[in-house]
This record gives sequence, structure tokens and C-alpha cells, in this order.
Amino acid sequence: MKLSFWERLVVNSPLRAFSLHLLEPWAFGQILAFPQGKRALDIGCGNGQGLAMLAARAKPAKLLGIDLDPAQVARAQARMVALGIPATVRQGRAEELLLADGCVDIITSLGCIHHVPNWRGAVAESARVLAPHGVMYLLEFYRPLLLAIHWLAPHPPARFGHTELLEEITKHKLQVLGQWQCLGLFGVVVAQKSAT
Ligand SMILES: C[S@@+](CC[C@H](N)C(=O)[O-])C[C@H]1O[C@@H](n2cnc3c(N)ncnc32)[C@H](O)[C@@H]1O
Repeated sequence: MKLSFWERLVVNSPLRAFSLHLLEPWAFGQILAFPQGKRALDIGCGNGQGLAMLAARAKPAKLLGIDLDPAQVARAQARMVALGIPATVRQGRAEELLLADGCVDIITSLGCIHHVPNWRGAVAESARVLAPHGVMYLLEFYRPLLLAIHWLAPHPPARFGHTELLEEITKHKLQVLGQWQCLGLFGVVVAQKSAT
């Protein structure tokens, strides 16, 4: 589901960039620092700030961004060119990534899954493309927050909470390495794919 006007304003703001470059890497790093020199994928990459953050902090061997919204894909592509980051950015859907099984070592998905009507399908698809020992870094926004802002930013009705997200993750050979949530409104999860 594409962003509303207000949500687009927030995700393209300097405040979002500040959080993406400083707060989220710090929060993830408390659990597990990004593995270095691996194949990384940012699902729902938006304007590419997350890709820039990954390029700086994970120094990936390969970097791919996927987003549903062609306008955000164009912004991310322009950002990669401007910053000289050799990333591929393309339009696509979190629930059907069109990638081979086990082809990436790091997945970031920062505020994307709650936009996907079939959010369980998006979790399963991320798990499928993650290689054995690969790590998934999630930031998600939950039902109570989404209901409170529904008039400003409508989201698919299939909303979820932190516990439901954790339960879904563990159905797909993923072990939760660490997680936290804030008042049931939003949370962070780092999970690793098992060896087999
Ligand atoms: C809240 S924004 C977050 C963007 C960026 N990750 C960030 O942290 O600033 C959610 C992004 O997910 C994208 N999105 C929504 N539904 C999607 C889907 N089914 N597949 C891929 N991307 C999707 C939106 O276009 C938007 O760019």
C-alpha cells in the first residue's frame, strides 16, 4: 500500500533521516551489529536513506533496495547516484520479491511490513530469500498506533502487534536474537535464519 501524503512528508523529512542514520543503527547495534561485506537487501527502501545507512555501516558486497512506490524508487536511485553508492534499486513487492531462495545475508525492513495487506506473506518471503545464518533487522509500527493515526495515514486492516510479529517470525526458521517494543506502539526485532 502506498504512503499517504502525510506519511510521505514524514518519511522524506530530516527527522526520519536522523532516526535512520543514528537511532536505528544504534538500537540494532545493541542486539547485533550489521555483518560486514555481505549481500544486503532493504525492503520498502523508500527514498534510499536506509540504503545509504547500510552502505556506510555494513559495507555490503551487494546492495539492493526494493519498494512498491515508483516515486520513492526514483528518489532512492537518484540518492544512490548522488552518493556514488553502487546499489540496485527497483520497484517490487515485499510479498513477492522475485529473488532466489537464500540469496541475501542481511535484510532491513524499516516500517514496511505494516503497509502490506498480506503481512504474514511478507515475513515468509523475507525469510525465504535470507541465506542460512542471515540476519533480518526489522522496525515495525503496531495496531494501536496505526489505529490512532488512521485518519491521517490509512493502513491495511490486517494490522498486528509486537507479539504477533514475533510469533510469525519464528514460524520461518528464524531465531529472535533480540527485540524491544515501546508501549505496544512500535518495536525493533533482530532475527537470524537457522543453518538449515
Ligand atoms: C513508512 S515507509 C518507510 C520507508 C523507509 N524504509 C524508511 O524507513 O524511511 C514504507 C515504505 O514501504 C513501501 N511499501 C509499502 N508497501 C509495500 C510493499 N507491498 N512492498 C514493498 N514496499 C512497500 C512504501 O512505498 C514506503 O516507501
